[in-house]
Amino acid sequence: MTETKTQPQPILRADYRAPAYTIGAVDLHFDLDERATTVRAVLQVRRVGSTDEPLVLHGEELELLSLRVDGDTLPADRYVVDEEHLTISELPAACELQTEVRINPADNTMLSGLYVSSGNFCTQCEAEGFRRITYFLDRPDVMACYTTTVEGDASRYPVMLSNGNRIEEVELESGRKRVRWEDPFPKPSYLFALVAGKLTCLEGTFTTCSGREVRLEIWVEPQNIDSCEHALRCLRRAMEWDEQVFGREYDLDLYMIVAVGDFNMGAMENKGLNIFNSKYVLARPETATDDDYEGVEGVIGHEYFHNWTGNRITCRDWFQLTLKEGLTVFRDQQFSADMTSAPVKRISDVKRLRGRQLPEDAGPTAHPIRPESYVEMDNFYTATVYEKGAEVVRMMHTLLGVEGFRRGMDLYFERHDGQAVTCDDFRAALGDANGRDLGQFERWYSQAGTAGLSAVAEWRADEGVCALTLRQAPPRGRSAEESPALHMPVRVGLVGPDGIDLPLVLEGEGPGEAPRERVLELTEREQTWTFTGLEARPVPSILRGFSAPVILCADRSQEDLAFLLANDSDAFNRWDAGQALFGAAILSLASGVASNGASGWALERALELDPLLVDAFRAVLLDPGIDGSIRALTLTFPSERELGQQMQVIDPDALHEARRFLVREVARALRGELLAVYDAHRSQGPYAADKASIDRRRTRNRALAYLSALEQPETTALAWTQFRAADNMADSQAALACLAAVEAPERERALSAFRERWKDDPLVMDKWFQVQAESPLPGAVERVRELSRHSDFSLANPNRARSLIVSFSVGNQAGFHDPSGAGYAFLADHVLAIDPKNPQLAAACAKAFVQWRRYDERRRGHAEAQLRRISEAEGLSRNTYEIVEMALEG
Ligand code: TRP
Ligand code: ZN
Repeated sequence: MTETKTQPQPILRADYRAPAYTIGAVDLHFDLDERATTVRAVLQVRRVGSTDEPLVLHGEELELLSLRVDGDTLPADRYVVDEEHLTISELPAACELQTEVRINPADNTMLSGLYVSSGNFCTQCEAEGFRRITYFLDRPDVMACYTTTVEGDASRYPVMLSNGNRIEEVELESGRKRVRWEDPFPKPSYLFALVAGKLTCLEGTFTTCSGREVRLEIWVEPQNIDSCEHALRCLRRAMEWDEQVFGREYDLDLYMIVAVGDFNMGAMENKGLNIFNSKYVLARPETATDDDYEGVEGVIGHEYFHNWTGNRITCRDWFQLTLKEGLTVFRDQQFSADMTSAPVKRISDVKRLRGRQLPEDAGPTAHPIRPESYVEMDNFYTATVYEKGAEVVRMMHTLLGVEGFRRGMDLYFERHDGQAVTCDDFRAALGDANGRDLGQFERWYSQAGTAGLSAVAEWRADEGVCALTLRQAPPRGRSAEESPALHMPVRVGLVGPDGIDLPLVLEGEGPGEAPRERVLELTEREQTWTFTGLEARPVPSILRGFSAPVILCADRSQEDLAFLLANDSDAFNRWDAGQALFGAAILSLASGVASNGASGWALERALELDPLLVDAFRAVLLDPGIDGSIRALTLTFPSERELGQQMQVIDPDALHEARRFLVREVARALRGELLAVYDAHRSQGPYAADKASIDRRRTRNRALAYLSALEQPETTALAWTQFRAADNMADSQAALACLAAVEAPERERALSAFRERWKDDPLVMDKWFQVQAESPLPGAVERVRELSRHSDFSLANPNRARSLIVSFSVGNQAGFHDPSGAGYAFLADHVLAIDPKNPQLAAACAKAFVQWRRYDERRRGHAEAQLRRISEAEGLSRNTYEIVEMALEG
């Protein structure tokens, strides 16, 4: 940093103060024009208490046209306008404030506030975008009732939407029209939304539990109308599920979802008018994979569930973000689990947590789920706040039980409906409803980093006793003082030699039906539980269902892991035993690679494949009783990224070689079995999306991935044939990914055929970029450089930018960490190119740098140079500045 630049100041949680003014009602009027929209706002302002503080409204990039108080134009000496505020002094205790501003939606490339996407207007106000529309107290604890009038050219903007109910729609003279909306529920400004343009809708209805009929509308650009059925079905299911599981009924007569092509995040829960990244709405079999369908279901559910957890009850301040996000992610996870398969969903969620949240928690970006400070709020929509936040809610669910948790939620809704509250309020409601003190549990909200959990089982054969000692360790690199003991629910079982769970009789317990699974509550650093009456040495199954977000370090033999993989009654722990088994093998191969400096043929001579691994793999591959999705998940080794977290100094090349070696050797050893499984899971009829068909596709595509790793002409031909014959995107993309990873003529052929077929479908073209960015073939950096110059590439569209830049820098470890530093230069170039236009996106891309200190000296040098280059750039955004400074200070 040069000294002349003023550094952005952090905002602290401890500095929270209630607002000095409230706004009771808001009346907005929009006169739409791409380059010059005028916004008139009439605010009913009231001073709280007897302060003589001026009213400080937020406002950015607004051109103030007029300002009146109670009808009179305000003299210039009564107010001050700066880059971020409008400050008005000497206001009466209550008044009507009227402003008129001009904004330029066409030039709004940040995609925050009112902007234009494919010629249509849309808004994104969370977290602080409303201040880019009009002057306002743009903070979540100011809740008001809104009416919104939209006016504009009727032929260009035939559809005009905003929150709540449509109360007027009139055709005006000279081809204009006006629509008026009223939202009866008080809401914070971040939930405001407006959409206008040429859109068509798929409509449906839902009858609520009290018998009210709700109109459902999914709005899309006309060419996408055939891809909305799934979203509508998901919405109905979500509405029904929230009634059944949480007793929550929808509260308006209309629920609208709009899909837009340019969107910084997944979707937004604006009251009555959700705005979605089209990726999470549009789905039809030809263009969307099975995972994409599930993604739509999860996000539709998520935004719907926000209506109660987020909108009716919102956050007091942005430090409380996990109050709505952690809770709503937990709710959407439970919803998806009920709609599909609970264990499959749980495994995918934990995989995601390990791949994204653990690295975040292990580097300079580590923060508690309720952060203490931020420079730019947009940077704190993190895996920690969302995913770890959901784990924290899940632990309370585990501690209180299904009914206790529901009692707590009921009390939370009863106490706080219509309010802006804190994480402490939530925890208090859950505790109070159950007569439980969740005081120690608060530490989960204030500690950064991932705690460790070790388990030691002492088997005393002569007594038939197993003493299980659980010990929690502070996160790596943190002291015990800054990380006091957490309240951890640890779900355990003891598996007998026959593979069946043994009754868990604790020392001192009388006879009677003992449970075969227990939740142990670890509240101290170390505690021991003694189980009695055991006839043979059990194998402990610890942290079933991943009952706490910790790193389990149980010293388990390969044999015990293989035994759990084969027998554990908990599907999650069966999968996790496989991950531990295969992960350990890859890590030990990697240290072999590193010490031999070997690759290719020499590598195969230097390394050896343990037959136990092949046997374990074969057993899962051929197990007819296993769910096909779980089979596929179990036969997917931990990613290079996940495994890197377990290394002192991450060696991306050794990890890459080792993982590829294991994949290839397993495929070589089980070629016949894999082929048989591939054939047996062929489709028997036309495409279907039921669970059995999805499971079948997942098993089959996993088998194909192993086979094609052999890079033999016949195995490549198999992928090519599947690619040619596929009648759905799941099979097509799986085959394309295989082909993109082999050096064979089919590679080019498939990529160009795919592009030819899908060049007009942006979401599918994102896959085309992603598959190539993640290809393990050598020369990755040159490949992505070239793709970044492709005529279909654009930095202006966040999905497209991510499909190349984030896919490469996060999803292609070996490529990104190229020892030459060229991968880092590629990322820095693009961060710098994106930053002036879309800081939120630039900062999200820059996050790929933050673990740079975990690598060897040469890579550290290259990464640091690129980070400095970004940091010194003229006019760098607050967003990117914060990420880069965190990385450099760390
Ligand atoms: N509240 C949204 C969600 O979780 C997140 C979101 C959407 C968002 N768009 C954003 C957050 C833009 C910050 C900026 O569903
Ligand atoms: Zn959310």
